[in-house]
Amino acid sequence: MQMEQLAIHGGKPVRQQAWPRWPASSPALEEEVMQCLRSQRWTVSGFYQDQPSYEEKFARAFADFNNAAFCIPTANGTAALLCSLQALGIGPDDEVIVPGLTWVACAITVASLNAIPVMVDVDQHTLCLSPQKVEAAITERTKAIMVVHLYSAVADMGALLHISEKYNIPIIEDCAQAHGATWQGKRVGTIGAVGAFSMQQGKILTSGEGGAVVTNDQTLADKIYSIRTNARKKMNGKPSTGYMELEDAGDSFASNYCLSEISCAILFNKLQSLDQENEIRNNNRHLLRQLLGNVEGVSMTDSAPGTTSVSTYHLPLRINRSHFGNITIKALCEMLSAELGIWIHQPYIPLNKHPLYVTDDPRFAARREQLNPSRYQLPGCWEVYNTHLLLHHSMLLGNEEDINDIVNSIKKIKTIVQ
Ligand SMILES: Cc1ncc(COP(=O)(O)O)c(C=O)c1O
Repeated sequence: MQMEQLAIHGGKPVRQQAWPRWPASSPALEEEVMQCLRSQRWTVSGFYQDQPSYEEKFARAFADFNNAAFCIPTANGTAALLCSLQALGIGPDDEVIVPGLTWVACAITVASLNAIPVMVDVDQHTLCLSPQKVEAAITERTKAIMVVHLYSAVADMGALLHISEKYNIPIIEDCAQAHGATWQGKRVGTIGAVGAFSMQQGKILTSGEGGAVVTNDQTLADKIYSIRTNARKKMNGKPSTGYMELEDAGDSFASNYCLSEISCAILFNKLQSLDQENEIRNNNRHLLRQLLGNVEGVSMTDSAPGTTSVSTYHLPLRINRSHFGNITIKALCEMLSAELGIWIHQPYIPLNKHPLYVTDDPRFAARREQLNPSRYQLPGCWEVYNTHLLLHHSMLLGNEEDINDIVNSIKKIKTIVQ
């Protein structure tokens, strides 16, 4: 009998059908957008049209979803982080702890405020910040800890809160990848001082581009609103129709990171299905864990103690390469992408070597050594990079057949390469 061939070498791919579409539209979503388009108000700084703005409707709904007192939508997740850092008073020469394994926005936002991103290694179970390494990195200049709930896990908030309280350093939770997850029953984003979300296209709640900050602290919320809105605030009371709902606050050096009304209308609609979609993904994730239990050399990562529910964004699979003929993770990703007809890729390149984290920008000339990312040792991040691959959450939005395809592709590759 002829040996089965890998799809990457011209064999028949395991996956023969399309994956669930992401992002997905619906008649109700299209109607919501049309209502916004007809409303003559396309931004929060557009004129009041005798009804609450979509920004207000989405902000209220997302605050309620998270059980937070306040929510301020932002142009994107990077802006959500930047506004949060600025509201916490982060400035020149302050140090902010960021994980070495995360999207570059975490370090870039810190550097853009003339502060120093201090890159800290991650835990091998959760792939999120290692609390021990965080404590070892604290100096008298540490002004914030940016905790990222990465790759479908919740970070070890028990240990991190303990450190935050011990040294009186606020936590910014980056929840770009964790909308709806809970720790000790609380939604992520409401455990630290502020929670920053991204609603970029790949995220589990999306408007293409978008973001939001949630907090329970009125002072921080007011500051973030102003920092986001060119130092304007919402006027007290109801404006007259056709007049501006914003008025000068004049209390901060502030840029414009507002989110358009059209994006807010999309988010207002998409939020209604988030819990249900999280449940589908988590059920399929559970099934995948069960089925992979029989595949030696492949395992799934854990969330931290105290996690009461996860949300699934990029789902990491840990690979013991010795069971796969010691091929590289990159090669394995390429083989799996060909079998499954969807992009499977490695985790982020750790920030100490990330090509997008450039510090030779002339604005940083005086601080080149302080910002030099290669001065950090991040062996744990590199271990993750070299031993994990990521599945996009849209692959878990379907049914059992989809999960079988994932498992059968892995088994096929393993049989051929081992
Ligand atoms: C962990 C993390 N933080 C921040 C961001 C930045 O979000 P955005 O792309 O919306 O600016 C992302 C988005 O990829 C992210 O994954």
